[in-house]
Amino acid sequence: VSDLLDKLRPVAERLALFGAGPTPFDTTIDAVLSPTEAVIDGRRVLMFGSNNYLGLTHHAEVLEAAALAARAWGAGTTGSRVANGSLALHAALEADFAACFGKRHAKVFTTGHQANQSLLTALCGPDDVLFLDGESHASIHDGARLSGATVIAFRHNDAGDLAKKLARLPPGRNRLVVIEGLYSTSGDIAPVAAIAAVAKEHGAYLAVDEAHSFGVLGQEGLGAAEGIDVDFIVGTFSKALGGVGGFVVSDHAALRMLHFTARAYLFTASGSPATIAAARAALGVVRREPALRERLRHNVRRWRSGLADLGLTLGTFESPIVPIILGAPEPAVAMWRRLLAAGLYVNLVLPPGCPLARAGLRTSVSAAHDDAAVDRALSLVEEAR
Ligand SMILES: Cc1ncc(COP(=O)(O)O)c(C=O)c1O
Repeated sequence: VSDLLDKLRPVAERLALFGAGPTPFDTTIDAVLSPTEAVIDGRRVLMFGSNNYLGLTHHAEVLEAAALAARAWGAGTTGSRVANGSLALHAALEADFAACFGKRHAKVFTTGHQANQSLLTALCGPDDVLFLDGESHASIHDGARLSGATVIAFRHNDAGDLAKKLARLPPGRNRLVVIEGLYSTSGDIAPVAAIAAVAKEHGAYLAVDEAHSFGVLGQEGLGAAEGIDVDFIVGTFSKALGGVGGFVVSDHAALRMLHFTARAYLFTASGSPATIAAARAALGVVRREPALRERLRHNVRRWRSGLADLGLTLGTFESPIVPIILGAPEPAVAMWRRLLAAGLYVNLVLPPGCPLARAGLRTSVSAAHDDAAVDRALSLVEEAR
C-alpha cells in the first residue's frame, strides 16, 4: 500500500547520491557583504552565481527608497489590490514602467512567476494554442498548464521551426507565442526580430519574457525586444532591478483586465511598500545610468575571455550568463565544491535542469564586479580545474 509521503522519498534518495559535502540546494548564506561578496560557512566568498546583473541590491538610492517607504506606508499591504486597495506606489510604478517602455499599459505583480502565470492564464483557455520555446522557464510552463491551452513546443531559438509549426495549425484557433529575451541557464539570446516576424505572418500574438534581459540588453536596457513590435513584455524585479516582483507592459488595453481575472494576482498580497519603492528607485537607476550596462559588458568580455583562455567550453552568446559546460554531473559537482571551498560561489546545473551533455556550472557576472574580482575568480577557476 502506498503512502501519501512515498512520492517524496526519491527526492531524498537523489540528494543522498551527492554523498558528504555541501550542495547548492541547501547552502545557507550567513551574511551578504555587498552585491558581489557573501559569507558562507565562516568563509568570505565571491558571488559569481547571482542574477544581480547591475548590483542594485545595495544601491544607496534603492535602499533609501525601501526604508522610507516601509516607514511611511508600513511593512506590508496585508492583501490583494482588488480587495484591499492599490497604494499610490503601485500606480506610480506602473506609470514608470509604461513610460520606460513607451507602452500604454503596465501591470505589476508580486513576483515574476506570477506575472507569467497571470498573463498566460488570462489570455489563454482550452481552445487556444500556446507555442513555447523548448527552453522555456518553469513559470511559463506553469502558466501554460494552468491555462488549459494546447501547448506546442518549438526548437529552442528556431524561428524556422516555429514557422513550420504555426503553418501546420488549422486556421481559426487563437495562438500566442512565448519566448524569453535571454535564457536563464544557457545564456542564449533570442532572435526576437525573426520570431516576431514569423508570429505576425501567422497571426499569432507574441509575449517576450525579459526576466534576465531587462536592464541588461538593448541600447536603453529594455531587453532583447527593444525597438521590436511585441504584444506583451514580461519582466521581473528580481534580477537586474535587485528586488522582488514582476511586471507586464503592453499597448493592448486588455492587459488592464488582468486586475479582475488573473488569479495569481487577485488572490495574493500585492508587493510591499518597500519592494515597490525599491523597484521604482532601481528603475530610475537603470534609465539614468547606462554606464552600468557598459561596465557589465566589460566584465562579461573579461570573464569570458579569461575562461576561454583556460580552455573551458562556454555558452555561445556574449551575455552575463556564462555557462561552463563540463558534460557530466560528477565533474560538475566536484568543481562546484572545490570552488566553494576556495571562496567562489557559482551555480550547479544538472539534469533534469539541462540535457546531460550540458551539465556543468552556470556563472554570472555583475556590473558591481571590479577587474580584481574577475581576475581573482579566474585564478580560483584555474586552480579548481
Ligand atoms: C525567465 C524567467 N521568467 C520568470 C522568472 C520568475 O521571476 P521571479 O523570480 O520574479 O518570480 C524567472 C526567475 O527565475 C525567470 O528566469
